[in-house]
Amino acid sequence: MTQRTLSIIKPDAVQRNLQGAIMKMIQDSGLKIVAMKMLRLSKDEARGFYDVHKDRPFFDSLTDYMSSGPIVVSILEGENGIDKYREIMGATNPENAQEGTIRKAYALDIEKNSVHGSDAPETAQVEMAYFFSKMEMVG
Ligand code: CMP
Repeated sequence: MTQRTLSIIKPDAVQRNLQGAIMKMIQDSGLKIVAMKMLRLSKDEARGFYDVHKDRPFFDSLTDYMSSGPIVVSILEGENGIDKYREIMGATNPENAQEGTIRKAYALDIEKNSVHGSDAPETAQVEMAYFFSKMEMVG
């Protein structure tokens, strides 16, 4: 089944100029980019995006970090796109990420883990709508 998922290249990766390298890994996997832009979240916008984590101990640190610099948000499309992107990202904690994954290659730690991807169809819908209007989604 063809699925769309939201991807974020996080501040730690953009700051190290890794957007191109990460996009290449994404494109080499066969996933297609159907929307893309660069922006910087305010602290409140980061809180809104990560609302499901608001009761977690890392919420304040996470939202500080996610609003600390520019990010690149995109919508990726492909066969089983949600799980496929999660596979190429690797585990949330880079210490557990497999060889060949984005997080194994670039993540700094469990927080500054370079990329985000939606975890299910319902969250993908909410996350895509958080950043993109229908008009900005190609195809
Ligand atoms: P992400 O996939 O964007 O989802 C939530 C984010 O919280 C996660 O990646 C990390 O950037 C961050 N985070 C920080 N600490 C933890 C933790 N202990 N468990 C899960 N996520 C964490």
